Amino acid sequence: MNNGFILVVDDNPTNLAVISQALRTEGWQVRIAVDGEDALNKVVQNPPELILLDVQMPGLDGFEVCKRVKADKATSDIPIIFMTALSDTDSKVKGLALGGVDYIVKPFEQQEAIARVRVHLQLRYLTQTLEQQIRDRTQALSQALEELQHSHLQVIQSEKMSALGNLVAGVAHEINNPIGCVVGNVSAVEATIKDLFGVIDLYGKHFPNPGAEIEDELEAIDLDYLREDLPKLVKAMRDGSDRIVSISRSLSTFSRADTDRKQAFDIHEGIDSTILILRHRLKANEHRPEIQVWMDYGTLPLVECFPGQLNQVFMNILANAIDAIDEANQGRSAAELEANPNCIKIQTALSGDYVQITIFDNGTGMSEEVRSRIFDHLYTTKTVGKGTGLGLAIAQQIIEEKHGGTIEVNSELSKGTTFMIKIPVLPHTF
Ligand SMILES: Nc1ncnc2c1ncn2[C@@H]1O[C@H](COP(=O)(O)OP(=O)(O)OP(=O)(O)O)[C@@H](O)[C@H]1O
Ligand SMILES: [Mg+2]
Repeated sequence: MNNGFILVVDDNPTNLAVISQALRTEGWQVRIAVDGEDALNKVVQNPPELILLDVQMPGLDGFEVCKRVKADKATSDIPIIFMTALSDTDSKVKGLALGGVDYIVKPFEQQEAIARVRVHLQLRYLTQTLEQQIRDRTQALSQALEELQHSHLQVIQSEKMSALGNLVAGVAHEINNPIGCVVGNVSAVEATIKDLFGVIDLYGKHFPNPGAEIEDELEAIDLDYLREDLPKLVKAMRDGSDRIVSISRSLSTFSRADTDRKQAFDIHEGIDSTILILRHRLKANEHRPEIQVWMDYGTLPLVECFPGQLNQVFMNILANAIDAIDEANQGRSAAELEANPNCIKIQTALSGDYVQITIFDNGTGMSEEVRSRIFDHLYTTKTVGKGTGLGLAIAQQIIEEKHGGTIEVNSELSKGTTFMIKIPVLPHTF
């Protein structure tokens, strides 16, 4: 009992004096109250460690005082020991039923009274320490759980990313050499074709009558047509291989391994490369027509960020958008689809010191109940094997913790969903 005290309540001054004196000789601090009203006031103003409470008092009796002390949450755990006459069994039972912890019979047997008070003070002290220990442990455990979930997300995030990133980087690398060979040789092929036609023209000039066999052959292959068509074929080959080069570059952008420091990155490149990776999922299939992707890009500065991680955020949000559209299409008729074709809209803009990216899809949308939980670790509405419920938890961690940005969502059931991401242009430090 550090700074605490015992409150003794009795209307009889002799009793008060005797019991107070006995308690004080044990080294305890004692305060007194002379009736029920007085006792309640003192308990509320300054709660004691224990109350010794006379049962029979004018005005509020001991039972009433006990009821009120127990009814108030702030004082309900103060142990109350009743003081009652030896023969009064009813009072003893009633007192215990009302929440009293014990009783002392009058006239006092001093040693016994003190022993009872000591036991209840010790019990109270133990209960309090135990409660505090439980609170401490619970807090430590929930903090540990939170940290565990946090690092779990980070591990999964980097594992997911590095598996996909390695694959994509490997594909890009394998494409680079052969396509480099095609691109490098197309110009040589063009020049060679020109040379060959030059030689044929020269022959024609010097030998205008080469004979029937050659004339027949020239007619069969339609030389004039070839002269016109061959450069077109070569141009188509050049365009095709240029496209492969740009795809390969996008794949490399997407799989860009992050260093431990942020770097200046063109967000649009990140979005484009992510769309490229998801292209096959956007195409028409037997269940639905193609998903149109509309881009409305503003003029953005380069953003200091971890590009691989941001690409992962775009990937997680866009994959969810495609899932939501797939699901919505199961219940939409051809006429509805024609009136409101499947689409994803991506908008970017500079807003103050922030880059703002908005991604809308006209998929299923979400109920308020789902919407309020989507960023929770492991929350998913998808079947086992289809969703792990980590995509948006990871996205939120990347945007808010790694980049000091914000991610918000608006959604309306059967209308669609909009994610809004804001990322500071300049790096932030925590
Ligand atoms: N664009 C969206 N439209 C409708 N519901 C969505 C959309 N994006 C997310 N959700 C809801 O939020 C839930 C959580 O999404 P999250 O990406 O975190 O997990 P998941 O997609 O279920 O699994 P995964 O870990 O594979 O991404 C989804 O199961 C889905 O119910
Ligand atoms: Mg997902």
